[in-house]
Amino acid sequence: MRNVTKDNLTEVFDSYFGPDTDPRFKEVMNTLAKHLHAFAKEVELTHAEWDRGIAFMERMTEFTTKERHEFVLLSDVMGLSSLVDMINSVPGGTSSSVLGPFHVSGSPTIPIGFDMKRHYPGPVLLATGVVRSLDGTPIEGAELDIWQTAPNGLYSSQDEEQDTYSFHGIQYTDADGRYAFTTVKPVSYEVPTDGPVGDILNAAGRHAWRPSHLHFIAKAPGHRTLVSEVFAEDDPYLDEDAVFGVRSDLIMRYEEQPAGTFPEEGFDLSGKVDDPWLKVEFDLTLVPES
Ligand code: BEZ
Ligand code: FE
Repeated sequence: MRNVTKDNLTEVFDSYFGPDTDPRFKEVMNTLAKHLHAFAKEVELTHAEWDRGIAFMERMTEFTTKERHEFVLLSDVMGLSSLVDMINSVPGGTSSSVLGPFHVSGSPTIPIGFDMKRHYPGPVLLATGVVRSLDGTPIEGAELDIWQTAPNGLYSSQDEEQDTYSFHGIQYTDADGRYAFTTVKPVSYEVPTDGPVGDILNAAGRHAWRPSHLHFIAKAPGHRTLVSEVFAEDDPYLDEDAVFGVRSDLIMRYEEQPAGTFPEEGFDLSGKVDDPWLKVEFDLTLVPES
């Protein structure tokens, strides 16, 4: 096209694809270009703003390492990660939610009743529940990969005081489909704000807090893998999660239990908990693989 105008540019873009282009690639790129062009026209993007956008992306690459995924963080705070989750979730099962950047692969297997809390302060939290198929059948041997922050709000990869697998573990459900472990009550924490994504949050007058949560990835043969989180009902940030991860079926009550009532057997901490403790019961439903 010799006469490209702002009115025909999107069509010209479409005409430049080669005949052998993968159809899905063409669909995604064409639609991206359509919305990108419409966006620039709608806001009447200036050269100075375009420059700032490019400089922002350069800073994003400077901040990105194997451990620090600034592009994922941008997708998270823009709501894109949650939107992709929602578009791809199947009705009927437990809702999915963001993976976040702090999952560690190769976590140790933890037996039923394992204690992740160890020497950390605060009340013991007993987390338990049953993993079921969509028809209600409990799934024996379902794999639950669990992770959370220490009481200081830091994941092990952010904190020199913790070893790699602190507050990380993989548990397999028993014959009744049940998992059970003890830990500390998760705390609210801020997503990293020392990079360009933090600048965006600041400029937008937004905070960086996530409501307290326990992360998990649930897997079972014949079922879709579920990446999700459990939130505490009393958390002040439930209605303003910086990364839009809260779904109503993921909000649980952490029930206070009186002193002297901790299970007498079946847990590493059985016989060792004299104070009041907390219990969260959270069942998961996995949908069949399509
Ligand atoms: C997290 O929950 O671990 C997380 C999610 C998105 C961005 C940062 C942290
Ligand atoms: Fe998290």
